[in-house]
Amino acid sequence: MTAEIQPVRGMNDVLPAEIPAWQHFEAVTRGLLDSYGYEEIRVPLLEQTQLFQRAIGEHTDVVGKEMYTFTDRGGESLTLRPEATAGVVRALISNGLLRGQRHKLWCLGPMFRHEAPQAGRYRQFWQVDVEAVGFAGPDADAELIAMSARLWQRLGIAAAVSLEVNSLGTPESRRAYRAKLVEHFAGHASRLDADSRRRLAGNPLRILDSKNPDMQELIRTAPRLTEHLDTESRAHFEGLCRMLDEVGVAYRINPRLVRGLDYYTRTVFEWTTAASSAQNAVCSGGRYDGLIAQLGGEPTPAVGFAMGVERLVALVVAAARSPPAARPDVFVVVSGPRAAAAALPIVERLRSERPQLRLELNLGGGNFKAQFRRADRSGARLALIIGDDELARGVLAMKPLREESGQSECPVGSVAAGVDAALAALASR
Ligand code: HAM
Repeated sequence: MTAEIQPVRGMNDVLPAEIPAWQHFEAVTRGLLDSYGYEEIRVPLLEQTQLFQRAIGEHTDVVGKEMYTFTDRGGESLTLRPEATAGVVRALISNGLLRGQRHKLWCLGPMFRHEAPQAGRYRQFWQVDVEAVGFAGPDADAELIAMSARLWQRLGIAAAVSLEVNSLGTPESRRAYRAKLVEHFAGHASRLDADSRRRLAGNPLRILDSKNPDMQELIRTAPRLTEHLDTESRAHFEGLCRMLDEVGVAYRINPRLVRGLDYYTRTVFEWTTAASSAQNAVCSGGRYDGLIAQLGGEPTPAVGFAMGVERLVALVVAAARSPPAARPDVFVVVSGPRAAAAALPIVERLRSERPQLRLELNLGGGNFKAQFRRADRSGARLALIIGDDELARGVLAMKPLREESGQSECPVGSVAAGVDAALAALASR
């Protein structure tokens, strides 16, 4: 037997049974983003590798260990996007859309990271990415966070998530803080684990993120970033916290929240869920005031976040908030050679006359009993029977599938009106 081809590890199929929950999540999210004035943008899945190296940072796990990078046939180094912010910023620059303009943008699609797969952590995963470009004040940060809080409410998962915020200050204040941090950790070099030792030179702030229990005491006693903020960053952060208080969004200040991407300045935040023990971040983001200039655009402040769609859909499903799968309204049963020839034109005409109707025509023949079994399984409420005997009399038959009531008939020429009446009679019971 020919060997079966395996799926790529960490890359999932989203099967039809799961689609209603995904579409529900997407529809609610789209509606909300639209009501806040965000516009959709679609950017390529592939970008020049150096875009991510420059945007996300050489010393991050994402760039250092997780990117899907290859040389294409033209000899260019390309990378499957590990996140969307860099590509969206690149698109604004490439299309000349900055020029002092403000943009509120979102995009949806798969991202790729070569991480160790486990429940909730995949190598291809979907994000809804949201970016507010050209906004310097904390009001933009606060509105984004309030919008995400509103989304959890609309999805019925507000009780399952909580918010942490922090400020990383400016690059200058962070450099000064970084030096203090290196001093602290280097003073206890023998107590550092291998990961932290590696991070000490390149990205010491990430040591604060370590989950290793042996590292916790050293992290607890480390200097705190919030105590080393520059005056403006402190005012920005206080402004954000005040606005969150005013709109009633609960949060916890977590001085250890540093995020895994280098482009952040000032505000960072993360929504996490207690519902899953391991991969608990469902939505994370922050401000990146320096990124656009760093990628060659005119200096423009910006703030944004991305949501992990798989993780959020799982919460929506767990809260039993996803709608049931769509079922056909009418299943069309076909009986006899004349009917087999007449069925497709009749059903196509009905589709033209009633575009909203979900119609499933029995395809591929089968005896009457087998077709009714299919009709039952389809979940339709009504069977429309196109049979040779009925056609000879110029009529079609209709039979309710989910209740014991009798068959009715309508003239072939007025099938749309006949189906309307039969469905209306069922709906009124
Ligand atoms: P991030 O924290 O790397 O941020 O990812 C955002 C979200 O994507 C996470 O909170 C999580 O829900 C989901 N996620 C990340 N990695 C995985 C994975 N391997 N499997 C499943 N879900 C995952 C960013 O990507 C930034 N671009 C967000 C941003 C936009 N900051 C400013 N603007």
